[in-house]
Amino acid sequence: MSNPLIRNVPTHVAIIMDGNGRWANSRGLPRTMGHRKGVEAVREAVRTAGEVGIRYLTLFAFSSENWSRPEAEVSDLMGLLKAFVRRDLADLHRQNVRIRVIGDKTNLRGDILPLLIEAEDTTRNNSGITLVIAFNYGSRDEITRAMQALAVDVAQGRLTADQITPERIASRLDTAGIPDPDLILRTSGEERLSNFLLWQAAYSELLFIPELWPDFSREVFLDALKAYAGRERRFGGLSQPTLAVGS
Ligand code: IPE
Ligand code: IPE
Ligand code: MG
Repeated sequence: MSNPLIRNVPTHVAIIMDGNGRWANSRGLPRTMGHRKGVEAVREAVRTAGEVGIRYLTLFAFSSENWSRPEAEVSDLMGLLKAFVRRDLADLHRQNVRIRVIGDKTNLRGDILPLLIEAEDTTRNNSGITLVIAFNYGSRDEITRAMQALAVDVAQGRLTADQITPERIASRLDTAGIPDPDLILRTSGEERLSNFLLWQAAYSELLFIPELWPDFSREVFLDALKAYAGRERRFGGLSQPTLAVGS
């Protein structure tokens, strides 16, 4: 169902969910409480995205660099991801959400991989919004894995070097088949991509907002979509009115 209040709804929104730790610190709470509250914000974001007609919502849940955090926090984040899949999968499936997971799926701990595969398999044929969970994801790692696969194809004679095109590279990334994000949004005021979707972000609109992720409500999301709607995208060309005058 699309929302008539929001014009120019992006097809794909990707979010760097940042600021859980600061949200907790500012309340004198342990960081884990920020992550817990962050899961509630995830639920609300998925609902809002579906409601306004966004087709793909990518959420950066855990980066390949986040392993460098203290072991207790890493374990806590793993536990929260597992709890999220266990508790919410049935509900997401009922909402017709299709789940995709991007990131390196090798060497994951214990029972995480079977849960991620279950989430993807259960929802594979759903036709609603696609929720892309970026987990153990780093863009340089993703591009490196794609290059390694292409190098093997060339070495084994399945491809020639000049058959390596941008389209072929994109088709080897974890995001194969998913359109590039129209909007990349980061909460918490930090203005950087932190190794998120570097290839796919070539023409994305970037929006950095001050709210911390646990405070990312429906209203904050709708405001971000309004800001996106006011942007002019050119993709290297000219804006439409300029084109009309010149032609
Ligand atoms: C985002 O919040 C969650 C993850 C990166 C997993 P942070 O944990 O980065 O929170 P801050 O940036 O320290 O406030
Ligand atoms: C990016 O946030 C990763 C996720 C949101 C999962 P970080 O908090 O890890 O990024 P930096 O370290 O501030 O760049
Ligand atoms: Mg952070």
